[in-house]
Amino acid sequence: MKKRAGVQRRGGAEVKKEKIFVCLLCFFLLLVFNLFPVPVLAGEVSQSELDEINNLWRNSAHALADVNCSSCHQNEETKKFVAKPTHESCQSCHEDSVDTFLLGKHGIRILEGLSPLTPAMAHIPMKESAMDKQMNCNTCHNVHSVNTYPAAVDSCLTCHNDTHSLNYQDSKHAQIFADAGSLPRPNEESVTCATCHLPRQKINQTTLVNHNNTYTLLPRDRMVKEVCMHCHSVEYAYNSIFDDELVEANFARPPTLKLETFELVRALEKKRSSKVNK
Ligand code: HEC
Ligand code: HEC
Ligand code: HEC
Ligand code: HEC
Ligand code: HEC
Ligand code: HEC
Repeated sequence: MKKRAGVQRRGGAEVKKEKIFVCLLCFFLLLVFNLFPVPVLAGEVSQSELDEINNLWRNSAHALADVNCSSCHQNEETKKFVAKPTHESCQSCHEDSVDTFLLGKHGIRILEGLSPLTPAMAHIPMKESAMDKQMNCNTCHNVHSVNTYPAAVDSCLTCHNDTHSLNYQDSKHAQIFADAGSLPRPNEESVTCATCHLPRQKINQTTLVNHNNTYTLLPRDRMVKEVCMHCHSVEYAYNSIFDDELVEANFARPPTLKLETFELVRALEKKRSSKVNK
């Protein structure tokens, strides 16, 4: 029997779909029987490490949302197994995180096609033990638990070792974070490294984390508007941010600076209101 071309083409697509389904099924079976990366990585990962990964994943936001091992460990187009996924594996679901990460100091080298940033390349002080750590999504995130709580401060301090960073732990902000807690996410009242350097932003009803770590630094007073003013007055925030010693102390005391601008504004307002009252 002669088939029409159109039907044949549809048949081809169906066969392809079937193949994909069989591949996925195999993958799933391998997972269920815990066989998955062991043969592929040929002994690089022990059974106990694999059990731990499974446990972390099972309790994660990803497992709840049906994001499973193959969502990241399988190339979308070629369907090939990927042992060490990069930011590209996150892109299809977290476009905004990837895009903003690539624009900041942390990610820009990857965007430019260079090797990832490492602490060895830094001008500011970094932990000796982290010199060769490469910057990618999995540097701050445990990609299997995707718990953002340890990403907000602890992860930063595995690399950063300057006075400002180290002084954070003595600040009232750190105290609030420690007291408020609420795993797995830092709560709204907390002020972490990420609150100031990877600020949460509302984009069409959803709150997303801006991963561009340069964004709130340039210009310096952008942080006042985008971060501090959620909780402090504009004057308090400016007087804090433009005091270099207070920045170095990571805001561990109230501001002593009195920016003249605010005095001028007050004088002007006084003048104006006295005119109106006449
Ligand atoms: C959200 C994406 C994502 C999911 C879901 C995910 N992984 Fe991973 N996995 C990664 C990334 C990223 C790495 C780190 C690669 C690297 O070290 O550069 C990794 C690393 C690994 C490694 C290597 C660890 C090592 O120390 O070398 C194993 C094994 C692994 N994953 C197994 C799994 C299993 C099993 C599951 C499902 C229970 C899973 N992964 C789910 C992204 C994911
Ligand atoms: C197939 C889609 C998909 C892929 C691929 C994916 N994610 Fe997710 N991710 C999700 C969904 C869905 C959520 C849950 C969103 C929510 O609860 O608001 C999530 C949540 C998260 C969270 C927040 C967890 C929390 O407690 O708020 C982080 C962090 C995260 N993913 C990181 C990653 C990283 C890093 C990668 C790549 C290595 C990745 N994801 C790959 C879909 C995906
Ligand atoms: C410098 C550390 C760091 C790096 C690198 C990093 N993240 Fe994050 N990410 C965080 C922190 C901290 C939070 C939570 C901040 C908060 O809730 O205030 C977060 C939150 C998230 C969330 C949940 C909030 C949202 O916007 O949906 C997702 C998803 C996410 N990251 C994905 C990624 C992906 C994908 C990459 C790689 C392109 C990446 N992250 C790289 C530190 C990092
Ligand atoms: C893998 C190590 C590593 C981790 C983890 C890390 N950083 Fe960085 N960070 C760097 C390096 C390296 C630089 C570049 C410093 C330089 O050029 O002197 C940098 C630069 C920065 C800068 C300066 C940006 C600029 O434009 O000058 C800020 C702010 C920053 N990091 C904040 C954070 C925060 C907040 C976290 C945690 C959420 C974090 N970092 C996690 C390595 C790291
Ligand atoms: C309350 C807000 C706030 C918190 C919390 C905070 N920072 Fe900062 N950070 C700043 C400000 C403001 C600057 C100074 C920007 C400037 O000099 O223009 C700065 C500067 C930096 C720089 C130096 C950038 C450069 O190029 O010199 C790094 C690195 C950094 N912070 C990392 C961290 C880390 C890591 C933590 C947590 C342990 C942290 N910060 C907590 C506000 C904050
Ligand atoms: C989520 C709310 C929140 C954000 C955002 C925030 N703070 Fe705070 N800050 C607080 C709270 C609460 C305190 C403690 C007030 C108290 O105990 O009197 C505090 C205390 C301070 C102190 C005084 C510390 C002391 O020891 O008395 C300074 C200075 C400060 N913040 C500066 C800043 C700056 C600058 C920014 C922005 C870069 C900022 N804060 C962002 C909530 C916030």
